[in-house]
Amino acid sequence: MTVPFPEPTTPASSRAEVFTRYLDYFRDRLAAKLRGLPERELRRSRLMSGWTPLELLKHLTFVELRWLEWGFEGRDVGDPWGDRRGDRWYVAPDETLTELLAAARAQAARSTAIIAAHGLDEVGQPSERWAGAAPPTLETIAGHLRAADGFVVVSGEYNHSIPPALSNLLDYFLEEWFWRPSAIVCYSGGPWGGVRAAMQLRAMLAELGMPSIPSLLPVPKVQDAFDDAGVPRDPRTESRAVRFFDELEWYARALASGRAGGTPY
Ligand SMILES: Cc1cc2nc3c(=O)[nH]c(=O)nc-3n(C[C@H](O)[C@H](O)[C@H](O)COP(=O)(O)O)c2cc1C
Repeated sequence: MTVPFPEPTTPASSRAEVFTRYLDYFRDRLAAKLRGLPERELRRSRLMSGWTPLELLKHLTFVELRWLEWGFEGRDVGDPWGDRRGDRWYVAPDETLTELLAAARAQAARSTAIIAAHGLDEVGQPSERWAGAAPPTLETIAGHLRAADGFVVVSGEYNHSIPPALSNLLDYFLEEWFWRPSAIVCYSGGPWGGVRAAMQLRAMLAELGMPSIPSLLPVPKVQDAFDDAGVPRDPRTESRAVRFFDELEWYARALASGRAGGTPY
């Protein structure tokens, strides 16, 4: 089943529902992407960090366990760091995508039940999770789970400019973007791959507090750029994409460690 994008204009009965809808959407997109990858891609990394797609999935399951079950409810969860071995995320060779997706679904159901059963302003139980510090509220935790360290903005080109629906979506939020890098993937029907829209996006993204990284990933003649299975026809696309995402990851890590020390306002 595909969970629809939680449009800001779709009414929600509570702020808690807004959080759970976003979480459901992101979990569903991740599952769909992973199901679309061949087995060998699930277990290898194309990133500077060496992180594999299966390690990401397992890590996200444990993140929910750590923040909500262990952290907020103060429950005994066995080993809360079971996604790690030493200082690395770890998935054993016999752990399958099907098993890890089932574990992620079960964890998601527990998170949803916890969010539904408590007020967002409720403070969590003291637990080892907080190492003696005061536990945060459920809203802080839910916001953390929804938070991102960077954004990939994917834009077409309309009249040599930003598609209005995209600028409307970007305008709808502000603080949500702040102090994070963005990276622009652009495409168009013409030979320039939407780079004119990208140049205008750079100005807008900087104003929104998420300046774009220097590189772009443009896709010209988008109607011819992929085969029916969605594989790029130009073999250089992959190495360009790897370099582009490594660059974003570098900026995302740099700004994340900057934010950990506070922000200027
Ligand atoms: C209103 C409109 C304006 C467009 N302007 C441009 C343009 O300036 N340059 C270009 O290369 N393609 C242009 N196109 C083609 C789009 O970039 C192309 O169809 C693209 O695939 C649209 O992406 P979307 O369907 O994700 O919105 C335009 C399309 C529309 C509908």
